[in-house]
Amino acid sequence: MLSERRVLVTGGAQGIGAAIALGLAKAGADIVIADLAAQSGTAEALMTKITELGQRAEFVEIDVTDKASVEAAVEAAGQIDVLVNNAGILVPSRLEDLDEASWQKHFDINAKGVLLCTNAFLPQMRERKFGRVINIASLAARQGIPTEGHYAATKATVVTLTRVYAQEVGEDGITVNAICPGIILTEMAQNKLVGADREYWTNATSLKRLGDPGDVAGAAVYFASDLADYVTGQALNVCGGLYFH
Ligand SMILES: NC(=O)c1ccc[n+]([C@@H]2O[C@H](COP(=O)([O-])OP(=O)(O)OC[C@H]3O[C@@H](n4cnc5c(N)ncnc54)[C@H](O)[C@@H]3O)[C@@H](O)[C@H]2O)c1
Repeated sequence: MLSERRVLVTGGAQGIGAAIALGLAKAGADIVIADLAAQSGTAEALMTKITELGQRAEFVEIDVTDKASVEAAVEAAGQIDVLVNNAGILVPSRLEDLDEASWQKHFDINAKGVLLCTNAFLPQMRERKFGRVINIASLAARQGIPTEGHYAATKATVVTLTRVYAQEVGEDGITVNAICPGIILTEMAQNKLVGADREYWTNATSLKRLGDPGDVAGAAVYFASDLADYVTGQALNVCGGLYFH
């Protein structure tokens, strides 16, 4: 389905990014895992799995908040047909207790990172008149919950960037879409989901289960494929029926 497509996944060494990388590789894509240098060891096992599927796998160092690092990653990665902007952080805090440094860090990684990476890969996509950009936003973009207000604001920004980019680059055959995962059991979510909280959120989903990272991969495969040729500027909830808007 994705043969001859080369995909770069930011924050792809673990969690949702790793599951998306694997899902796209199963659909026939070659994968560049782009993550912080410290994650190169973590990415090893994933790269072995991808090569066992018969696809190419490479690791490229990137800090999505740093323009020079992003430009070096573009240089190292070469031609990229599908960019998955997945790198992100969540350090919970009530808004009243939030310090400025944390606000800034969340916006730098979760929102500015999408801007820097997208802008860096667009010129080659425009030249080839083809490209797919898939932004990993969050259900938090739809409705913030206590202790995640700053994070929700970054993800609402990602959805807005998705809609505007779609209009600005569509003329060159490039689509830009977002995925809004619900609660997906990665390191990020495990840390906050303990005891009664976990039971509450499990019961709040229509499917009565929290998500696995692999649950997000199908939506990414769809947006990366020809099946989504006429779909752009959209944000798709992948949340087990936790939220409906
Ligand atoms: N887990 C969830 O429930 C959930 C729900 C909705 C959205 N999301 C979003 O999905 C994405 C992945 O989340 P996850 O749960 O897999 O998190 P995770 O913490 O397991 O993985 C995040 C990855 O991003 C990388 N990263 C962090 N800062 C970076 C930087 N400056 N440059 C490059 N890479 C960087 C990390 O090294 C890590 O590999 C995030 O954008 C997150 O906001 C997660």
